[in-house]
Amino acid sequence: MTDFGPDLTRKAALALAGRRLAEAPVDAGPGDARFLLLHALGLSQTQLLLDGGRPIGDAGASRLSGMIERRLAGEPVARIIGVWEFWGLPFALSPDTLVPRPDTETLVEAALARCPERTRPLRILDLGTGSGCILIALLTECPAAFGVGIDRSHRALVTASANACANAVAERCAFAAASWCDALAGSFDLVVANPPYIATGVIAGLSIEVRCHDPLLALDGGEDGLDAYRGILTAMTRQGILAPGGSLHLEIGYDQAGAVSELAGACGFQEITVRVDLAGNDRVVSLAMARMQSGRVPEVD
Ligand SMILES: C[S@@+](CC[C@H](N)C(=O)[O-])C[C@H]1O[C@@H](n2cnc3c(N)ncnc32)[C@H](O)[C@@H]1O
Repeated sequence: MTDFGPDLTRKAALALAGRRLAEAPVDAGPGDARFLLLHALGLSQTQLLLDGGRPIGDAGASRLSGMIERRLAGEPVARIIGVWEFWGLPFALSPDTLVPRPDTETLVEAALARCPERTRPLRILDLGTGSGCILIALLTECPAAFGVGIDRSHRALVTASANACANAVAERCAFAAASWCDALAGSFDLVVANPPYIATGVIAGLSIEVRCHDPLLALDGGEDGLDAYRGILTAMTRQGILAPGGSLHLEIGYDQAGAVSELAGACGFQEITVRVDLAGNDRVVSLAMARMQSGRVPEVD
């Protein structure tokens, strides 16, 4: 049990929360205690700084205590507070959506790098949209663009739609439940995907925060982690999803650049480039479509 009394000052409660988390076996980040305290007490960082000597009170003590207990049990901060920031925008979460990762901002950067004219009426497709974070970030950067977000999870799409409203892009996007490109006709200028890419056998060894709190559908990439790439790349070429001059950007695991590039090459893609994330790991494979010479559409086994 944690011992947050109502008479503890905000500053003392922060210090105590930090100590509790540091002593626990969970992999708590340096900002976790602060995030939880601010959220439990409904404070901004400035209010905490300016008025750190005020007692947290009964309701604050009870809320903070509950949140620290949940964090000690391995629940990530983002799940506890129910909202997380991506690309400087707020995204509500649900049990059916992945917590947006900072690494995924590399995918947004890669896609934007291919759009020098951001004011064009681009058509954007986001496969495996989850919370909608990638699509919504792109729509905020491309004011005349229209986007479609696809996910196999209906419940994730409910959250994505709410996030589109909250971030004022709802009139410029639509969401549909489907497996990758199965329900799609037409072509897009920009296609992005952060598909599940963890090999099935690796999942049991992931941290409790991921293994027990991120949806399995968002993680499991099949036996070698590459199932989703095979499905997406084959569908892209078979269905002509990329408009002429369009580009496809795939988030990858740190060790998947070679395998995904090979699959893409076998599917007739060209201009294969790999972008690293802030930690220097390979994170995004960007592709443009080769012109098909014979009408024969390659498939990947
Ligand atoms: C790694 S998560 C990415 C979520 C979000 N785009 C992000 O970057 O935070 C992968 C997403 O793909 C979805 N998904 C898994 N299999 C799918 C399929 N066959 N067709 C469409 N979406 C799928 C999952 O439900 C999940 O939302």
